[in-house]
Amino acid sequence: MPKLFTKIRDLRNYIKTAKQDGGYTVGFVPTMGYLHDGHRRLIKSSKAHNDITVVSIYVNPLQFAEGEDYERYPRDLERDISLCEEELVDVVFAPSDEEMYPERPLLRISIEGLTEVLEGQFRPGHFSGVCTVVLKLFNIVNPNRAYFGEKDYQQLKVVERLVKDLSIPTEIVAVPTVRDEEGLALSSRNLYLSPEERRSALSLYRSFLLAETLIKNGNTEASLLKKAIEDFILKHPKVRKVDYVEITDPELRPVQQVKEGDRILLAVWVGNTRLIDNWRIGDAKVRGHTQGRGF
Ligand code: PAF
Repeated sequence: MPKLFTKIRDLRNYIKTAKQDGGYTVGFVPTMGYLHDGHRRLIKSSKAHNDITVVSIYVNPLQFAEGEDYERYPRDLERDISLCEEELVDVVFAPSDEEMYPERPLLRISIEGLTEVLEGQFRPGHFSGVCTVVLKLFNIVNPNRAYFGEKDYQQLKVVERLVKDLSIPTEIVAVPTVRDEEGLALSSRNLYLSPEERRSALSLYRSFLLAETLIKNGNTEASLLKKAIEDFILKHPKVRKVDYVEITDPELRPVQQVKEGDRILLAVWVGNTRLIDNWRIGDAKVRGHTQGRGF
């Protein structure tokens, strides 16, 4: 059974003793709970390289804008603790809102060229909220390494830059996206999808494979590829809207001509659920995928 902490002071004391007296290294997996196999992968990566693994479970209100799904975001602490127990997590930190934010923070964080584009354009204030909670959690947990999924690629890049600019002594470790057997990227929000919506949601993954095929056939112009991806996704019955399809280099700078290692990033509304996904160009080749086969 993992040790459960709800108070900042208690967790700080525990970590301080473990690091100073035990000489232990600490791996940290920040989450908003409702854990799935994507989180298991983060936890396993942490356990492989650190003496102690801490998982935080906290639905951070600061990163949700008015009208978003903060209230309905799935929560089940008991289930999350059982998953952590199965994965032999050492510590779960599950603070209350009052513990995290006795007062609404006045801090605002933005990172030029990173926080106001893509997700930032459609979810103003989102990354400021993410950066605030991540910094706060890093200050509490003081981890040697912290694990972030590539599923939220822009978040990963924002956190990497945050840590670099502020000289935070935590190594950020990127962990590949976990997909189900049909290619849907795992996300706690998949729970919102009806069976029919889920079928339409598979178009995201399939659009990446379509793009790979087009690229293989010599179509490397980003504008053409973006249009092909968007048209393909919009053909699916439950897809309501595409917020964006963008192709960038690994540092999120838009490209005109795509090459291996660039990223396709997109956000799509399927029914009332907003899904994000991304793809590293060249991955279909690396993993031997072909269109429609999934994995
Ligand atoms: O990726 C998430 O689950 C959240 O954005 C994070 C990093 C836990 C911050 O609330």
